Amino acid sequence: MDTLETLHARRNVRSYTDEPIPEDDLAAILEIGRRAPSSKNMQRWDFVVLVDRDQLAALSEVWRGSYMVADSAATVALICPIAEDPYTSASIHFDLGQAAMAMMTAAAGLGIGSCQTWVEDQDLARKILGHPEDKTCAWLIAFGYPSDRPLAPMRKPRRRDYDDVVHMGGW
Ligand SMILES: Cc1cc2nc3c(=O)[nH]c(=O)nc-3n(C[C@H](O)[C@H](O)[C@H](O)COP(=O)(O)O)c2cc1C
Repeated sequence: MDTLETLHARRNVRSYTDEPIPEDDLAAILEIGRRAPSSKNMQRWDFVVLVDRDQLAALSEVWRGSYMVADSAATVALICPIAEDPYTSASIHFDLGQAAMAMMTAAAGLGIGSCQTWVEDQDLARKILGHPEDKTCAWLIAFGYPSDRPLAPMRKPRRRDYDDVVHMGGW
């Protein structure tokens, strides 16, 4: 798939086959995350990668919306500094969003589905992931081959209409 086709094909995939992700493909996805743009190129992120079934099952308990982590082939935890002021926090999370989308797009290009999820129980996340006290686990991204249907460009995604969203030349 070319870039536009890949972006048209990406969707949130929440159930996965048992097939593991080849090490090289997982590394390629993480490399794209590492290369993501960030404010002042500060790269305020670390990626903790889990592939062990027991660890994934434990991590899936961090929030009720994180259930898909248990069946994922790999989950990447996005770790970032804890920021007190709203500007810094917004800037960090914008950057993390870019890294997340870059990795999810790279995965889609390889036929790998993904789903991002929030982390409510930070203590549990820290126990499993082992990141230092001055950092927090902002998001998880679960990856795996879709068990429902392969990724393919979607003709009608569930989105607001183009003309409702896009304002050419001013609002
Ligand atoms: C910041 C963010 C957090 C999300 N958290 C969850 C989540 O915890 N659990 C989940 O199942 N989906 C989560 N999603 C996925 C969205 O629900 C999904 O992207 C949206 O419904 C559009 O669906 P699509 O990506 O398949 O087109 C999250 C998406 C974003 C951008």
